[in-house]
Amino acid sequence: MSINFNNKYMSSQNRTNIPNSLNEHWMPFTDNKSFKKNPRLITDAKGVYLTNHQGKKMIDASSGLFCNPLGHGRKEITEAVSKQLEKLDYCQPFNQGYGGSFELATRISKKTPEGINRIFYTICGSTAVETAIKISIAYHRAKGDSKRFRFVGRERGYHGMNIGATTVGGMINNVKTFASVLMPGVQHMRHTHLPEHKFVKGQPETGIEMAEDLERIAMNFGGENIAACIVEPIAGSTGTLVPPKGYLKRIREICNKHGILLIFDEVITGWGRTGSAFASQEFNVKPDIITMAKATTNGVVPMGVVAVREDIYDAVCNSSTAPEGTPELFHGYTYSGIPVAVAAALAVQDIFDKEDIFNRAKKMSPYFQDGLHSLKDLKDVVSIRGYGMMGGIEMKMDQKPGKAGFQTFKHCYDAGVNFKNTGDSLIIAPQFICEKKHIDEIIEKLRKGISNYSKSK
Ligand SMILES: Cc1ncc(COP(=O)(O)O)c(C=O)c1O
Repeated sequence: MSINFNNKYMSSQNRTNIPNSLNEHWMPFTDNKSFKKNPRLITDAKGVYLTNHQGKKMIDASSGLFCNPLGHGRKEITEAVSKQLEKLDYCQPFNQGYGGSFELATRISKKTPEGINRIFYTICGSTAVETAIKISIAYHRAKGDSKRFRFVGRERGYHGMNIGATTVGGMINNVKTFASVLMPGVQHMRHTHLPEHKFVKGQPETGIEMAEDLERIAMNFGGENIAACIVEPIAGSTGTLVPPKGYLKRIREICNKHGILLIFDEVITGWGRTGSAFASQEFNVKPDIITMAKATTNGVVPMGVVAVREDIYDAVCNSSTAPEGTPELFHGYTYSGIPVAVAAALAVQDIFDKEDIFNRAKKMSPYFQDGLHSLKDLKDVVSIRGYGMMGGIEMKMDQKPGKAGFQTFKHCYDAGVNFKNTGDSLIIAPQFICEKKHIDEIIEKLRKGISNYSKSK
């Protein structure tokens, strides 16, 4: 159905409903041409539900983009943000500060694995990864080891869209246009998804040997030249690839052997998605650096965070011989830890604690995983993977990669369940506040949408 546009400027009341023109906004990661012919605009969000511009209510099966595990429209967050805006709307974060960002750093460091307790604020996940890359280089240089310039990522990894993050990522469509400007010296391990993992719930038993790719890269390029290895503990954007048992531990061992820093990109897995605060704790493997974003503010204000080992911070800060007032690390953002983001994040921390949110996610996850895997009888579903409160459903390719995924997404949207597809994978990540009835609704509507897609072919 197409929208009826009027030619007047919108009033502030209906701004999010029907815009006058869709032409000027170049939308991110969107098929702009087809969207603008048949737009999907969201006008309201409350709890686990979204409403679109046609007044249709849908259940949010992916927590936005993994951002809103606490549900939409949380009063505690809204109030904290508006109070903060009234008191202090902005202060520059360089050589100045305000109390909230320090308080938040302390609270974050109480939930990160022990010793990973120095907190650098960024604007989003991409800038968190970019920062982790730079901190890795700065750390090695501070220790007098400036030859380490290489990084290792993994196929099907997603780490965001700046040049460094794009380079270490491993999703082909994200890199091929930009090959000429990518960072030098980056190698990729193979992804961990093997044919026998197709309908495995949780961690696959096979595939630990994929970790040896890191050893092989170290052999080929010299482990002593590698600054860091970055992986998502569970690859999220590609449709939930769960690490085989023992895989992350083996990666850690190889990093230790060669003095390579291990970065866990927990932009998705951080803040409870696996049932523990961080996947690092869930899988009992400690990295050196953790990146996070998304759920840090329940998605309402952009914010990224890099948590680093205390001695990494010490090495960088203590190596500086510059005069007082000169930064030890020449890096930061205008919006690093700004008051409004911090206020949202502190309110989120309160809710995490008050509602014992990570345990709530842990308790609900078997029910969710059972529901997800109940869809395996559907004709065009070729693989289902999942862990905790995240899952991926892979659709059978139809002529070209991405076609089946997008068509299925549209049928599901019409059936009243909203999520994101990446290529032919449907990304399912319910909110942690979901009750069993909401999980049931998500699964029923997925069944209907996926079946309608199959019938439409
Ligand atoms: C694991 C991971 N890292 C980094 C990013 C980039 O985050 P952002 O879009 O906030 O820049 C994402 C986004 O989905 C992600 O999933």
